[in-house]
Amino acid sequence: MRRRNMQICVLNGSPKGEKSVTMQYVRFLELASPDHTFSTHHISRKISGIEKNLNEWEQISTSIQNADMILWATPVYFQHVPAQFKRFVELLHERDTGNWFTGKYAASLSTSVHFFDNKAHEYLQGISEDLGMNWAGSFSPGMNDLLEEKNQRNLAAFGEDILTACCEQRPSLRAYPPIPVMDRTYTPGTVQNPIDTRGKRVLILHDSAKGSHLEGMVWQMASSFSGEVTTCHLDEIGMKGGCLGCMQCAFENQCVYSDDFSSFWKSRIDPADIIIYAGTIRDRFLSAKWKQFFDRSFFLGHIPRFTNKQLILLIEGPLAQIPGLRDNLSSVLSGGNLVDIITDEPEESGLTDALIWSAAERGVQFALSGFSKPPMFPAVAGHIVLRDAVWGDFRPIFRADHRYYKAHGLYDFPQYQYWKRISRVFFSLFMALPSVQKRVKPAMKDHMIEPFARVFTESPILKNRL
Ligand SMILES: Cc1cc2nc3c(=O)[nH]c(=O)nc-3n(C[C@H](O)[C@H](O)[C@H](O)COP(=O)(O)O)c2cc1C
Repeated sequence: MRRRNMQICVLNGSPKGEKSVTMQYVRFLELASPDHTFSTHHISRKISGIEKNLNEWEQISTSIQNADMILWATPVYFQHVPAQFKRFVELLHERDTGNWFTGKYAASLSTSVHFFDNKAHEYLQGISEDLGMNWAGSFSPGMNDLLEEKNQRNLAAFGEDILTACCEQRPSLRAYPPIPVMDRTYTPGTVQNPIDTRGKRVLILHDSAKGSHLEGMVWQMASSFSGEVTTCHLDEIGMKGGCLGCMQCAFENQCVYSDDFSSFWKSRIDPADIIIYAGTIRDRFLSAKWKQFFDRSFFLGHIPRFTNKQLILLIEGPLAQIPGLRDNLSSVLSGGNLVDIITDEPEESGLTDALIWSAAERGVQFALSGFSKPPMFPAVAGHIVLRDAVWGDFRPIFRADHRYYKAHGLYDFPQYQYWKRISRVFFSLFMALPSVQKRVKPAMKDHMIEPFARVFTESPILKNRL
């Protein structure tokens, strides 16, 4: 079927502009769809111009309004879209965009190494639906996938599918409900019993606005400790701009920016035992400023940032109403022990205060005892994805990561466990015998708990408690 020419407005989230990996995929789509017109805007690269210069804003506005379809094309940065792209979404909400987007179709295309790429797509779909658009689909190839013919075929098929959705006005179901406006007042109370930090270093990082609930929560948290607490606003830590995605840091963990961010990290984050991150929900994530902070920490490559640290999140906004955001924030802080996430959602300020106090108390207790919860699926799976990438394709460039992974036992591949491998071979041969299986099968439950028996008699932890 011959379709009418459609106008596709591509919003590019890569700070690298046209020299972006993601843009190679867009170029392929464009060449594979000669009957349609693509107009691309390098949003992240030009974000300061877009913020300050009305001309830039109007060009994008015209292009969006003339388009049949919006294609969000972006790399995944720190489990989400880059901070500059996030800022653009905030501008769309801050400025009057009327019905620029209403009734149009939207789709997302990312490149990444599949480390929480799903979160970036969830976000873009949620935002598109908030802007009144119909969702046509998302596509998330690995960054080098386009080099193979079968993946080229898939990308062309994705292009065909989203253009068909738009052309035929395919019905779509809203996946992410609108975010309700919260109607609460939070007033911090007096802290009766501040917690002695017992020498543990506490850092509170926030981006609170004057007079906001978050400002009150930060004050309440700081007052919950009786020892020294360092409180810093993100505007004061010397970040001059967002991550450029240049990867020059990969060799020696050295950022190309000559601002104060890396030294802030080394002098404040590294020595802290308890870190409290406090942020306000803007659209479906924290602010672009917070995202910039996370992205800029990429100068540390894939090295775990929060080992042995206790982490607390203070959130202003309807966290419980935004599917997936809690997981998203927990994963961003992966590696540390997340003590708690506290929001201003309770109707009673006293409850929020009690939650803050309790988190502060547990933060100190856990820092003293070295308590850390075992990682769950996202952290376990995430480690495996990064471990394989650092050992594999990344190794020649991410040299600092490689050294760290080697030195800290993070190359925990199962094939390196030689003794286990040898014993498994013999065990498997033994288990293949029908006569053995006949004996083992009825007693499977007993065999599974058998190794634990010695724990109850030999555990030094239990002995010390008796
Ligand atoms: C600062 C930064 C953060 C990144 N974070 C992630 C991530 O969280 N997950 C992932 O899968 N890839 C991540 N990557 C890899 C990029 O998504 C990938 O290299 C992408 O293809 C870059 O696209 P671009 O050239 O269009 O910017 C990150 C890269 C950079 C520079």
